[in-house]
Amino acid sequence: MILNASGCLDALTAPGVARELDAFVTKTVTPLPRAGNGGVRVAEVGAGMLNSIGLANPGIEAFLAHSLPGLHELGVPIWVSVGGFAAIDYARVCARLDRCEGIVAIELNLSCPNVEPGADGASEVVRAARAATVIPLYAKLTAAVPELAEVARAVESAGADGLSLVNTLRGAALDARTLRPVLGSAVGGLSGPALKPVALAAVYACFRATALPIVGMGGVSSGRDALELVAAGASAVALGTVLFSDPGAPGRIREELAAELATRGLSDLREARGIAHRAVPAGKASLDRRSRLVS
Ligand SMILES: Cc1cc2nc3c(=O)[nH]c(=O)nc-3n(C[C@H](O)[C@H](O)[C@H](O)COP(=O)(O)O)c2cc1C
Repeated sequence: MILNASGCLDALTAPGVARELDAFVTKTVTPLPRAGNGGVRVAEVGAGMLNSIGLANPGIEAFLAHSLPGLHELGVPIWVSVGGFAAIDYARVCARLDRCEGIVAIELNLSCPNVEPGADGASEVVRAARAATVIPLYAKLTAAVPELAEVARAVESAGADGLSLVNTLRGAALDARTLRPVLGSAVGGLSGPALKPVALAAVYACFRATALPIVGMGGVSSGRDALELVAAGASAVALGTVLFSDPGAPGRIREELAAELATRGLSDLREARGIAHRAVPAGKASLDRRSRLVS
């Protein structure tokens, strides 16, 4: 299953791209409208990009009135990303969504400013959201915590149905001439290829720690990247930064992924899920050693 990463695709302006996905994930919606951060909001850096959008969104009421009807017309299953500054904010938005038709999942963006990223803060939000809706809840976690597996276990106990891993990490860039921050907010979220090893480690750890399905994301730009996340434990993969440079990425990566599976004699993603946790079959290990010796 291939999704977009929240905030990286506007399905209403690029419906053709959205229709290539198995589900569309909205930008994070908060209870009230937010203008977001001022100044420069996006910057390219080595191996990725920085953004400081600041959760700009029209708020839940405008989203329901103006965006959701158009999203339904796409005919693609919809996941709504929900954010807030306290557990009650998430619960309010989830309660509004609970009364809407056709939303297949809610992704709780637990990396919002003021939301404690640790196990207690995350599980408090999930518990409040769980009480407000019967829609499946995916907890989107940041890898910037000392013990991610503990947070994953805590949100599982609090009622999460799945995990989305990972959100951006904090990064900054300085202007070469002025040596002042490029972003208006000085510090922003780092995404793109630089995140891939972080995402792999997060998915690997959470696959071992919980029984939850995992949407893996972070620096996926090829079928091989997607397969690696699945091998680490993801059951679905989301595309983020790659969509800004390659809107054809969903179709391309789907094809590359199918080819990667076929090359390895794997029939589907289910068979590939979690391979990184299994021992290498004896014959295969010695073959690999031999091929390393001759190359
Ligand atoms: C411009 C931009 C906006 C984003 N907005 C959101 C957002 O609203 N909510 C959220 O949970 N993540 C947001 N993210 C994070 C992505 O969903 C994703 O977790 C991250 O970019 C890692 O994936 P990638 O390396 O493939 O981009 C945003 C990322 C970018 C680059």
